[in-house]
Amino acid sequence: MAWGIYINCIIMTARILSAKPCVEEVKLELKKRCESLKARGCHPAMSVVLVGDNPASLSYIRNKKKLCEEIGAKFTLHQLLPGISPDDFLKVVQGLNNDPGTHGIIIQLPVTDHLAVLDLPQLVIPSKDIDGFHGENTRKLFEGSTDMKLLLPCTPKGVVNLLKYYGYPVEGKNIVIVGRSLIVGKPLSLLLTNLNATVTLTHSKTKDLKHFTRNADIVVAAIGKAHFLDKTFFDSAKKTVVIDVGMNSQNGKLVGDVHTQDVSEVVSAVSPVPGGVGPMTVLSLIENLITAAEKQIKG
Ligand SMILES: NC(=O)c1ccc[n+]([C@@H]2O[C@H](COP(=O)([O-])OP(=O)(O)OC[C@H]3O[C@@H](n4cnc5c(N)ncnc54)[C@H](OP(=O)(O)O)[C@@H]3O)[C@@H](O)[C@H]2O)c1
Repeated sequence: MAWGIYINCIIMTARILSAKPCVEEVKLELKKRCESLKARGCHPAMSVVLVGDNPASLSYIRNKKKLCEEIGAKFTLHQLLPGISPDDFLKVVQGLNNDPGTHGIIIQLPVTDHLAVLDLPQLVIPSKDIDGFHGENTRKLFEGSTDMKLLLPCTPKGVVNLLKYYGYPVEGKNIVIVGRSLIVGKPLSLLLTNLNATVTLTHSKTKDLKHFTRNADIVVAAIGKAHFLDKTFFDSAKKTVVIDVGMNSQNGKLVGDVHTQDVSEVVSAVSPVPGGVGPMTVLSLIENLITAAEKQIKG
């Protein structure tokens, strides 16, 4: 009886999968690769094209600039007026595509609506597409590649690297992704499938979402709804690992799609927001920049 009461009182506390130690480790390696490029006469340089002054975009850009500077790469922001014409916008991107001193280009999203006439993911040439959005880069995922040195989409790459860093293999695991966006859910489902996981890609029309999440070994949340996944989405017997991609503003605070504190009682590990997938995404971007520069000097 006494034991029964005791066991009922045990509250699981999940391991917190902070990006920090992984970022610190990989940063040192990237710094070395950057120095080696500089010694060969190539100073890796990232250019970000921003339309307008969206505060969230400016905050993401600051993180990219900081990490570039920390590893010794160059960073330039091209801030354009919100009313820029599609033709003038194209000229800026094409100028950077043709500039041998620029190795990686990012078009910071969102751009103003009138630029939607442009096929944005295809504007940056594949060799400088460090976001990994160009069809030529994503095609490699469809073809089954598992080469993490390709210019892969940064958030999916960050999710996989975070799991790897903390020693969670994906091969043979049942992984449920919540959210099927072009930048997160879909490319992540391909990358994990290529890495031999069994992937279920769920979305807003999925019936009985909890049935899937409660049976998963790993759940990745990429929905865009603050604290959407609480402990009722998990079965404590499954010891699920949860990766929270969400970045939502709630009462002036950045929160994820997962209610971390609540789920900590029933899952075995969870990535925090802030400090989880966000920094891993920026790290992937800088890794892509160095890879792009290395490939460009080889010709
Ligand atoms: N940490 C990072 O570096 C990083 C990077 C990118 C995005 N994010 C964050 O990740 C979140 C998702 O971003 P995104 O661009 O992938 O989002 P998105 O394009 O808005 O897509 C959201 C996805 O969630 C699905 N969804 C919405 N409500 C749902 C529900 N009730 N049940 C199940 N699925 C539901 C949608 O389903 P339908 O397709 O059926 O509409 C859609 O597939 C956002 O918070 C974003 O800020 C973070």
